[in-house]
Amino acid sequence: MPKDALHDLELLFRSRHGLVYIETDEEDRANTLLAHVADRLGVPFFTWTRSKGLGRRDLETSVYESEEPQKALQHVALAQQDGVYHFRSIAGSLVGQDLLISLVRDAAKNLKKFTGALVLTGDGGELPGPLGELAAYVSLPGPSDAEFGQLLARIVRDLSARQSVKVTVTPDEQARLVRNLSGLTLMEAEKILTKAIIEDGALGAHDIEKVIDAKRKVVEREGLLEYYPVETTMAGVADLATLKAWLAKRKAVVQDPDRAAEFGLDFPRGVLLLGVPGCGKSLSAKAVASEWELPLLKFDPSNLYNKYIGESESNFKRAMKAAERMAPVVLWIDELEKAFASGGEDGGVSKRILGSFLTWMQDRRGDVFVVATANDIQSLPPEFLRKGRFGEIFFVDLPDGETRTEVFRIHLAARGHDPADFDLLRLAEHATGFSGSEIEEVVVSALYTAFSSGASLDTEALAAEIAATKPLSVTMSEKIAAMRQWAEGRAVRAN
Ligand SMILES: Nc1ncnc2c1ncn2[C@@H]1O[C@H](COP(=O)(O)OP(=O)(O)O)[C@@H](O)[C@H]1O
Ligand SMILES: [Mg+2]
Repeated sequence: MPKDALHDLELLFRSRHGLVYIETDEEDRANTLLAHVADRLGVPFFTWTRSKGLGRRDLETSVYESEEPQKALQHVALAQQDGVYHFRSIAGSLVGQDLLISLVRDAAKNLKKFTGALVLTGDGGELPGPLGELAAYVSLPGPSDAEFGQLLARIVRDLSARQSVKVTVTPDEQARLVRNLSGLTLMEAEKILTKAIIEDGALGAHDIEKVIDAKRKVVEREGLLEYYPVETTMAGVADLATLKAWLAKRKAVVQDPDRAAEFGLDFPRGVLLLGVPGCGKSLSAKAVASEWELPLLKFDPSNLYNKYIGESESNFKRAMKAAERMAPVVLWIDELEKAFASGGEDGGVSKRILGSFLTWMQDRRGDVFVVATANDIQSLPPEFLRKGRFGEIFFVDLPDGETRTEVFRIHLAARGHDPADFDLLRLAEHATGFSGSEIEEVVVSALYTAFSSGASLDTEALAAEIAATKPLSVTMSEKIAAMRQWAEGRAVRAN
């Protein structure tokens, strides 16, 4: 059982808060949890559903005609004893229902006299205005490893009763399998595990891959998040020393958040990387996840306004919820300014999504580290730049001479050429004003030229390519100067 949710609920019921809202699509789990808390407090537990009405757990019967939500709520409003009342799948249908809303208020008010509360669940988003202010919001954390472990044991037991199931996982492998379920609901996990076992009548190490694969599909189903395979490491990023040091310092916190919390340290919120295009912002975002050994989710804002995908705002909220469920995780939002550009002619949708995002940044639950990048400070809504939104704002500038040498070295070596065969100092000197990505392009173009003419790649070939390139810093010099000036005092220099 998730300990903190238990504790929160117990406290709310004892302090007679009256109304509690749990936004979740796992209502069965919420129900089990609530029953458990009611037991601990020694108060009766009631559940309402539209098909069965309002019934007390250990009794067969339900209140007369209480399938009607009005009747059921009236009953609660008049109750004269302690009780926890779980109303399922009702939260979403309250919008615009003034009568129901006022009955919920009456019921909540009545329960303030007793231990217990009226608990609404559902995945319908926010409660309507007046109730929103009245209710305490409790979030149901994802199932724990122990819950997944029990689920797995039950599935194996059930399937074994019907067919032969060969279990070959070692305890270690089983633990890894279970850990990889994190972020799923119990129902999703059950489907995935059952399918994996039935396919070959066995539970073995190979099922870990199947679980990871299935989980990727669940995450990507929404169309806004992409499970990003991590290949880049910080060793492949030249310089950006301040940024690397900042990240290295937080690695221990990220890898053992529980112990860090006891020590008084929160999970880091995120970083914003701003600066000159082609200088390693996106590259670093990818490298963070591999440094910290966390999964990387990429948020793709281009689908956000796709009318075929549907309601932008609720899609956005669902994507953020999905990211929370995957925690601990790195959430990468590339080119933030494109997703949240100020202005636009979409009837304020992007403004509302921006609002949702800022609120989420503030209130989010779960260990989600956000790495956002931006190339264009001008079109980035200023709200992002306010202190405290991100743990830190880094400004990424053009590489200096030494770094350019390093970038040449990295990209030559990556393509199987020994950097020692080249005069890197001279090349770096020639490439003054080049970004990392332009240096990479120089290496690639020179390779093409050399290969097609049957020559080998040498310093001259690279130098010729440099001479033929007009770097962005020339055409964009004013813009870059403005960015530098802006960053002065507002951001930490990454390099
Ligand atoms: N500091 C760097 N070290 C190594 N390669 C770099 C560096 N900066 C840029 N590059 C190369 O240029 C490419 C593009 O850089 P990217 O990180 O996408 O730039 P941006 O800052 O615009 O996000 C990278 O994939 C990498 O190959
Ligand atoms: Mg980029």
